[in-house]
Amino acid sequence: MDFEAHDAPEIYLPRSPGRMRQGVGLDLSEQAQGEIIGAARNESPITGLTHNFYRYPARFSPILVGALIEALTAPGDLVFDPFMGGGTTLVEGAARGRHAIGSDISTLATFVSRVKTTALDSRAKVAVCEWLKAVSVEINMQRPEPAFATWAEAGYFKHLDNPRRWRVRKALAQSVESAERIGHLDAEALARCIILRTAQWALDGRKTFPSLRQFRERLNAFGQTMLESADAFTRSVEERGGSARCLNQSVVGIEHNDAVRDLSPPRLILTSPPYPGVHVLYHRWQVDGGKETGTPFFIANALDGSGGSYYTMGDRKRPGLESYFSQLREGLKSLVCISDERTIFAQVVAFSQPQWQLKAYLDVAAEVGLSEYFLPTLMGSGDGRLWRHVPNRKWYADQKGRTPGAQEVVLFHRLAAL
Ligand SMILES: C[S@@+](CC[C@H](N)C(=O)[O-])C[C@H]1O[C@@H](n2cnc3c(N)ncnc32)[C@H](O)[C@@H]1O
Repeated sequence: MDFEAHDAPEIYLPRSPGRMRQGVGLDLSEQAQGEIIGAARNESPITGLTHNFYRYPARFSPILVGALIEALTAPGDLVFDPFMGGGTTLVEGAARGRHAIGSDISTLATFVSRVKTTALDSRAKVAVCEWLKAVSVEINMQRPEPAFATWAEAGYFKHLDNPRRWRVRKALAQSVESAERIGHLDAEALARCIILRTAQWALDGRKTFPSLRQFRERLNAFGQTMLESADAFTRSVEERGGSARCLNQSVVGIEHNDAVRDLSPPRLILTSPPYPGVHVLYHRWQVDGGKETGTPFFIANALDGSGGSYYTMGDRKRPGLESYFSQLREGLKSLVCISDERTIFAQVVAFSQPQWQLKAYLDVAAEVGLSEYFLPTLMGSGDGRLWRHVPNRKWYADQKGRTPGAQEVVLFHRLAAL
C-alpha cells in the first residue's frame, strides 16, 4: 500500500528532513496500518452504538478509535482513557470486548460516559419506556414549574429566564422532576441523558427556540433512538465480554486510585487531552449568541463549580502556556507510573499554534520518559505523523485569523527503553 502524510502543511514539518527516517516504527502489519490511516481520513458523521447520547465538545471519531483499538489490542486487554470526555474510547472498547477504564475531572463528562456505557437490564428499559409516555403529559404549561431552588440559587439556570426561553426551561424542569420519580437508578440516569440531549438540541448554540410541541416530539424521538442504541451497546458488550468503568478524577495522581492501582498495566492508553491554546467550552452551553449557561450540570444532577480553565488545563493566555504544559507533564508522569514496556500511548491532539506547540508537547513527553513511534508506512513522507482533518469543528484559538484547529495529529509513544 502506498500512503502519504496527509494534510500536514509546511509549518508542521521538522527542520531536518532526514529526522523522521530515524524514528522508530510501530510493529504493525501493512493492513493494520492501512486500517488506522483509512479511519483517520474518514470524515463520516458520528453514528452508532451510544455515541450520540450527547454531543461532547471535541469528541473523538469513533471510527478512528475503533481502528486503533482493533490494531493495537486484543479482546480482553485493558484500554485506558485518562481524559475520557464523553466516553468514546470506553464505548468502542467495551463493545469490542476490551476492558475499558476512563477518568475525567468533569462530573458532566463522567455522567455522560457512565450512561453511555451502562448495560441496561429489561426492568430499566421498561421503566424508561413508561417514563417516556408519562413525561409527554407532564410537560404542560398549565402545570406549575418545579422550583429546584437550590440549583437556581447556585446559578445553574443562568440566562434561561429570558421570555424567549422560559418555556424550554419549564419543560426541562418538569422533565427532570418526572425522571426523579422513576425509582430505578440506571433508568433515571438514562432519562436524564435523554433530557440532556433534548435540551442540548433545544438550547445550545441557538438563537431561536423550539415550541413546546417540538420539545415533546424531540424528547420522545431521542428517547426511542437512545433506548435502541443502549440495547445495541448492551448486546455487543454481552456477546464479546467487554466492560467499562468511569472514574471522576484527574489524571494527575491516577496511579494512587485503588481502581487503577490494582490493575495490570493497560495495553493501550488512547486519549485526547485538552488542546494547547484552544478554547473549548466543555462545561457550558451557549444560548442566544454566546450567553453561557451551566444547565447541563443540573440535568445530569452533577455539581460543577469550576471555571473554564479548570477543564482546559490552565489559562490559554499565559505566556508559553506554562500551566498547560506543567499539568500535561504531571498527567503524563502519572500515566507512565501505571504503564509498562508493552503499553502503547495513542494521543490525538490539535493545536492553536502547531509551529511551536507540537514541539513543546513532544518535549514534555520525552522528558517524562516516552519515546515517539510512527506508522512505518508514513515514515519518510511529510513529517511522518498521522494528521487528520476534523470536519465541522468550530472553536476559538487565542490568535487572530485562520486557526489550524480543524487539523489534529495522532501521536504514538511507548516507554523509553531503560
Ligand atoms: C478533548 S476532551 C476529550 C474528548 C473525548 N476524547 C471524547 O471522545 O469525548 C478533553 C477532556 O479532558 C478533561 N480534563 C481536563 N483536565 C483534566 C485532568 N487533569 N484530568 C482528567 N481529565 C481532564 C476535560 O474535562 C475534557 O472532558
